Formats: sequence, C-alpha cells, structure tokens
Amino acid sequence: MAAKVQAGVRFLLNGEVVEARGVDPTRTLLEHLRGDLRRTGTKEGCAEGDCGSCTVLVGELDGQGGTAWRAVNSCIQFVPMLDGKAVITVEGLGKDEPHPVQAAMVEHHGSQCGFCTPGIVMSLYGRAMAAKGTAAPIDEVLAGNLCRCTGYGPIIAAAEAIAPEAAPDVADKLATLRRGEALNLDYADPIAGVTRRWFAPLSADELARTCEQHPDAVIVAGATDIGLWVTKLRKPLGTLIDIGRVGELKAITREDGWLRIGAGVRYVDALDTLGELYPDLGAMMRRLGSTQVRNSGTIGGNIANGSPIGDMPPALIALGAELVLRRGDVRRTIALEDFFIAYGQQDRAPGEFVEAVRVPIDLDGAMFKVFKLSKRFDQDISAVCGAFNIRIVDEVVTAARIAYGGMAGTPKRAAACEAALVGQLWNRTTIHAAVEALAGDFTPLTDARASAAYRALTAGNMLRKMFIESARPDLETRVPEAAHG
Ligand SMILES: Cc1cc2nc3c(=O)[nH]c(=O)nc-3n(C[C@H](O)[C@H](O)[C@H](O)COP(=O)(O)OP(=O)(O)OC[C@H]3O[C@@H](n4cnc5c(N)ncnc54)[C@H](O)[C@@H]3O)c2cc1C
Ligand code: FES
Ligand code: FES
Repeated sequence: MAAKVQAGVRFLLNGEVVEARGVDPTRTLLEHLRGDLRRTGTKEGCAEGDCGSCTVLVGELDGQGGTAWRAVNSCIQFVPMLDGKAVITVEGLGKDEPHPVQAAMVEHHGSQCGFCTPGIVMSLYGRAMAAKGTAAPIDEVLAGNLCRCTGYGPIIAAAEAIAPEAAPDVADKLATLRRGEALNLDYADPIAGVTRRWFAPLSADELARTCEQHPDAVIVAGATDIGLWVTKLRKPLGTLIDIGRVGELKAITREDGWLRIGAGVRYVDALDTLGELYPDLGAMMRRLGSTQVRNSGTIGGNIANGSPIGDMPPALIALGAELVLRRGDVRRTIALEDFFIAYGQQDRAPGEFVEAVRVPIDLDGAMFKVFKLSKRFDQDISAVCGAFNIRIVDEVVTAARIAYGGMAGTPKRAAACEAALVGQLWNRTTIHAAVEALAGDFTPLTDARASAAYRALTAGNMLRKMFIESARPDLETRVPEAAHG
C-alpha cells in the first residue's frame, strides 16, 4: 500500500507554528533550525549528543491538560519526531532584554567563548521551569553540557542565582496541532538515490501492521543511537518507523508481580519508579547519558540495539527481566538474556518489534547492586557494568544472578561465578573462588575504553565490592552523587 504523503511536519517554534515541507525525515532538528530556518543561536558542537551546545526545550501535551517540557539535544532529533510538539530555542528567550537565566550568566561571568552558552542557558532555563528531568541538582542538569573555557564554577554560581519560574503553557496551541492520524512521509534522496519513508503510527496495532508490511524498516524510538548513524556514520536509511506516538508503548503498568515498561518509555519517565524499587538501578540510570539523552532515549532502544556495553541489559538480566516481542498479532515473552544471541545478533525476526520489558517488582529479600565503571562519572559509556542479585539465607547464598556488560560480545550472565556462589557461605573464601570462576565466564577484549586485563580485574572487584558493602555498610564505597542545589 502506498504511503499517504502528508503536507508537512508542523510544530511550534518559540510560540509560532512552522511547517517543514518536503524535508528529509532524517534531517535533524539542529540542521533544520540552522540551515533551513536560519535560527543560528543553537550551536553545533559534536553532532552526537555529547556536548549539549545544541540543547533546546521540547514541549508535549502531558495528558493532564498541560505541557511537559524536556531539554533535548537537537542534533540527534529527526524533524518528524517534532510533529505536533513545541520547541523553544535560545532565540525564544529574552527578546527585548536578557532573560533572567541569561542575565545570571552575564552577572556571574558564566561565558567566555560562548559556544556552549546557548545550550547551557537552555538547560538552566529547563531547570528554572522544572522541565521533566531537569528539576534536579545542578551538576546533574549540566552533566550533558560541556564547557571547555569558562569552567563550571561561574556557571554553577549563575545557576544558583536563578529563581524558579512558571513553564510556558502551550497546551491549547498543541491541541490544535494534534494529528488524528499517522504521519507518513516520503522523501526522494537525490544523493543516495532512494526514496526514504517515514511512518509514525498512532497505535500498537497499527505499528504491528506497519512493521509486518515493512520488515526491513528501521524502528526509531528516541534516536539517541540512530541519530548518530546519520550524523556520524552517514548510513543511508530507507524506511523508518517511529514508535514515539504509540500511546500503549509509553505506559508503565503493574501486572502480577511485574512492572511492565512499554518499549517507548523514556528513561526520564521510568527512572523514579525503577529507582524506588531498586535504588542502585536508579543511581546507575542517573549516570546513563545526560539529562538530554535520558529525556529522549528509551530502555527499549537500549535493549533492542544489542550493544555489548548498553547499561540497562546487565542490570535487567540480573533482575530476571523478560522481553515482550510482537509480530502482527503474535506476542512472545522471552528471558531478556536469551534476546542477545551474539555480537550484533538478537532474537528478533523481521517485522517483529520489542513491545515491552517486564521487570520483577520484588526480589524476595535478595540484595541487588549495580556498578558502572566508566572513565568519566557522568555521561560516559561503560567500560564494564556489573549487576548482582544475590539472596543469602542464614549466611548461605541460596540464589545468584550476575550479569555483566563490556565483558563479551553481548551482555551476559556469569554462570560459572554464580555456580561458585550458590550453596556456599557468604564469606571471603567464597568470594575469592567466585572471582576466580569469572575467568571461565569471560574473555574480555581490549579496546579504547579499557584493556582486557583491566576489565577482568575490575569485574572481579565489583563482586568484592558487593561483599564489602554487605559486610560493612558503614564504609564509604561510592563516589557521591551530584551536588549543588
Ligand atoms: C551522548 C550519549 C550518551 C549515551 N550514554 C549512554 C550510556 O551511558 N549508557 C548506555 O547504555 N547508552 C548510552 N547511550 C546510548 C543510547 O542513549 C541508548 O542506547 C538508548 O537507550 C537508545 O534508545 P533510543 O530510544 O534512543 O533508541 P534509538 O536510537 O531510537 O534506537 C536504537 C536501536 O534500537 C532499535 N529499536 C528501538 N526501539 C525498538 C523497538 N521497540 N523494537 C525493535 N527495535 C527497536 C532501533 O531500530 C535501533 O536499532 C548514549 C547515547 C548518547 C548519544
Ligand atoms: S551538537 Fe553536541 S550535543 Fe548536539
Ligand atoms: S564558554 Fe567556551 S566552551 Fe564554554
């Protein structure tokens, strides 16, 4: 069936409706702002979500009659993802005189070369209006904004001086922009010589049909991985299916002892619930990417991309999570660990998509810990990520689920290590044997992030740390989480 070509992508830009016609669906919002609309206040630094100089605020209907705002990296948002949403760029602030956030940056000498400044202003504006994920400690809010000449002291001083303010409510305008049908776009790419197609269905059934009709399509969730395929790898993409409008995939529900997290749920929307259940998981998630990345990226995308260094899979595998896959009307549920077959190979058939992940709500008294090891504390990919779910009854280990990322071609359970623990006393001798057993579980690689020897050593040290924290909870073993406000 031929795609129905719509007039264009419509969104609110600084309060005014704009319409992007005939735009390449993989054109980024940043390219569109700067190249097509000549709104050059938003800067391009890295074009890969790392530096934050392209930060803008995106508003959506919050389902309760208001507008939910989030800070995102415009360099890795595709234009059609903005359809029916609102965007505030730095040009939308302080038209006649500097906005209080800008005034505070001036007052506290928060800008030298100024390249990072628009992005920092937008992140701090998001914090001032308590946008989603940004009503947080200043360090956490700014972790995705790199500044290489001012230094963070003056910027933090500026942030501390900014008073909270009401978020703009554009719900009425958004309601009139709301599209009652799927957004389908066709674009003839003159360079690649292909017709690129973008489908954005509105329901899970429609998504299932679209995936079946286009089994080779690339499914787009938050685009925090796929965005880089375009901006960095220059990968020519053909057909794309956006799951961002499918309400059912955005829900978190409780069912028979499980938390069901839809594949389209963004980190920012799952963090509080998961963090309440498993505080260590919450702490790890606050270090996953940045505020901007967590405001776009999904847990489903982190699983589906099959990366050996994704942070959620080891934690969720250790918890005993399950994955719900759907093709047409047929659903199947598998243990999450079985999804990862080999490097770059997952148990997903053509036309099938990830519908949800199911996480146990209660571990029946077991200890659960996650350790993420990266070169930088915030906004960095793991060298090794270890997750431990260990039950101890009367000093004896009765069950153990241990999983690592960064130690093999896939996220993987440490079967030999688990076997060395179960049935043994929870003491140093057992830990020593279990650490030795890890050598049989993994043959890690050397790459830019870490050497094989370092990975092997630190994976064992994570288990030792788990033991020390359980035996001596009074000891300080963690880097403190974000400070400042
Ligand atoms: C600056 C930066 C920092 C990052 N830091 C971290 C980090 O610290 N830890 C970490 O683990 N990751 C990190 N990432 C990677 C990325 O943010 C995550 O992997 C994220 O969870 C991907 O989710 P997404 O929704 O953006 O996926 P997308 O980019 O939209 O998609 C990713 C992949 O999953 C597939 N996919 C998505 N949804 C589905 C579905 N429902 N069914 C089938 N296939 C699907 C896509 O086709 C694609 O192959 C970082 C990325 C950036 C840009
Ligand atoms: S340009 Fe660096 S995060 Fe977008
Ligand atoms: S002021 Fe130059 S990078 Fe921040």
